[in-house]
Amino acid sequence: MYLGLDLGTSGLRGLLIDEDGNAIASAEAGYTVNHPHPSWSEQDPTHWTTACESVIKKIRNENDNVFSSLKGIGVSGHMHGATLVDKNGGVLRPCMLWNDTRAHLEAGKLDALEGFREISGNIVFPGFTAPKVLWLARNEPEIFEKIAKILLPKDYMNFWLTGTYSSDMSDAAGTAWLDCGKREWSHDLLSKSGIRQDQVPDLFEGSEPVGTLRSELAEKWGVGRNIIVVGGGGDNAVAACGVGAFREGDAFVSLGTSGVLLAAKDSFAPMPSSAVHTFCHALPDRWYQMGVILAATDSLNWLSQLLDTDAENLSSVVGKTINGPNKMQFLPYLSGERTPHNDSVIRGAILNIDITSTRGDMVQTIMEGVSFALRDSLEALNSTGTELSQILGIGGGTQSPFWVEQLATVLNLQIDLPEKGEFGAALGAARLALVGTSGQDPEAIMTTPKVAKSVLPRDEFIEEYQDAYERYRKSYPALRALT
Ligand code: XUL
Repeated sequence: MYLGLDLGTSGLRGLLIDEDGNAIASAEAGYTVNHPHPSWSEQDPTHWTTACESVIKKIRNENDNVFSSLKGIGVSGHMHGATLVDKNGGVLRPCMLWNDTRAHLEAGKLDALEGFREISGNIVFPGFTAPKVLWLARNEPEIFEKIAKILLPKDYMNFWLTGTYSSDMSDAAGTAWLDCGKREWSHDLLSKSGIRQDQVPDLFEGSEPVGTLRSELAEKWGVGRNIIVVGGGGDNAVAACGVGAFREGDAFVSLGTSGVLLAAKDSFAPMPSSAVHTFCHALPDRWYQMGVILAATDSLNWLSQLLDTDAENLSSVVGKTINGPNKMQFLPYLSGERTPHNDSVIRGAILNIDITSTRGDMVQTIMEGVSFALRDSLEALNSTGTELSQILGIGGGTQSPFWVEQLATVLNLQIDLPEKGEFGAALGAARLALVGTSGQDPEAIMTTPKVAKSVLPRDEFIEEYQDAYERYRKSYPALRALT
C-alpha cells in the first residue's frame, strides 16, 4: 500500500492506493486560513499534523487489514508558504501562505535585482517564499534571527513524518531561490535575499526517497519500520502526476480555489515577462509552465457567501448550457492577480450592472470573469510558444456543465472531463510514493484518467465571446488607472 497526502489550503486529504495504483481508501480533515490583517493569509502548521493524524485514524479504522502493509508515503502541498523553524525544529510563527501578499514591496525589490528572473526563470511574485522572508527580516527581526530552516508546507510535513529536512524541485521552484533550469539552489539568489545556504533544506526529486517514517509514528499507526517517504511536490506538479500530465503537450485547466492552466514541458523554456510560471516538474528532467489566477471558484464562493447560499446551489441558476456572453463584466481580482498582470494591489470590479440584472446574470458574469482570466493565461502561454490543442478539466468548478462549456468556448479549446474517481494531488502523491519505493517506471504509473465527456467550444458563440474578451482586456488598464 502507498499513501498520498494532499495538504490543501482548506484541508488535508489522504488516499491509499495498492501496488497497481488503484484507489483503496480515502479520508479528509479540514482546517481554516487566518487573515489577521488585510492581505495576510496564515495557517498554524500544527493544524496540518493534527489533520494528518485524524485522516490516518479514519483510513486505519476502516482498513486496518491493508493499512498495516503500508510501504511508502508521498506528500503534495500548497506551494510558496514560509514555514520557519528554529534549531530544535520548533515552528517560529504561523506559516505565511501562497495567497499572502503582504510582501509585495519586497517582491518588487527582489524582482528588480539582476539575476532573479534570469536564474529562477520566474517573476518574484509577492506570494513566493523569498519576499516573505525578507518581509520578516524587516518586520519581525527577532523571529528572523532564530530561523534555522525555511520549509515549504509539505517540507514541514515531510520533516514531521521523517525527522529530516528536505525539499523537492517542484516546490522549491516556487521560492524564487531555485535555479529551475539546473535544478539546484542558487547561492547568488539566496545571498541576495540575506539567506544562508544551510537555512534551506537538501533538494530531492519528487519520486526520490528522502527518509523513513519516524519510529514513534510507525508504532502509533501500526505499520512496519522502513516506510519510505519520498520528496513529494508542489500541488500543481503533483496534480499533474495524478492526471498523467508530464509529456510535452499534456495540459490541464483547474477550476479550484485558484485557477491554473498548466502545460507540461520536456525542457526548461522560461519567459518571465509573460508572467507565466515556469517550474520544475515533480519527475526528473521535466518542467511545466502555468498561468495562475488567484480567485477561480473563490470568486463564486465569495458571491455565494454574500447571497447566503452555497456555490453548488448558485451554479444551478444558470442552467447547463450557454447562450452567449453577458452584458455585465466581472474582473476577478479579489485577491490581486498573478498571470498576466503580476498585480497584488488591484482589486475586482463588476461593470454594467443594470436595474434588470438578475441573480442568474451575476452568476454567469462571475463565471465569465474567471473564464476570461484563464483566457489571459492561455494567451500568456501562447506568447511563450506553447500551443495547446485540448486540455483536461479538473477542480470543483468543473462540476458546473455551464461553466465548462463557457470556458471551452472562451478558450476555443476542447475540455476533457475525467470520469468520477481519483485523479487529483492525493493520487499524484501516492503515485510518487509508488514510483520511489518500488522503482517502477513513472510512465507506467502516471497514466491519464478515462475521459467521461469531451466538451467542445460552441461554434456559434466563439465570435461573441471573442468580442467580449476584447472588452474584458480593456477593463484592467482602466481599473488600474483608478486604483
Ligand atoms: C501556484 C499557487 C497555488 C497554490 C495553492 O503557484 O500559488 O496553486 O499552490 O494551490
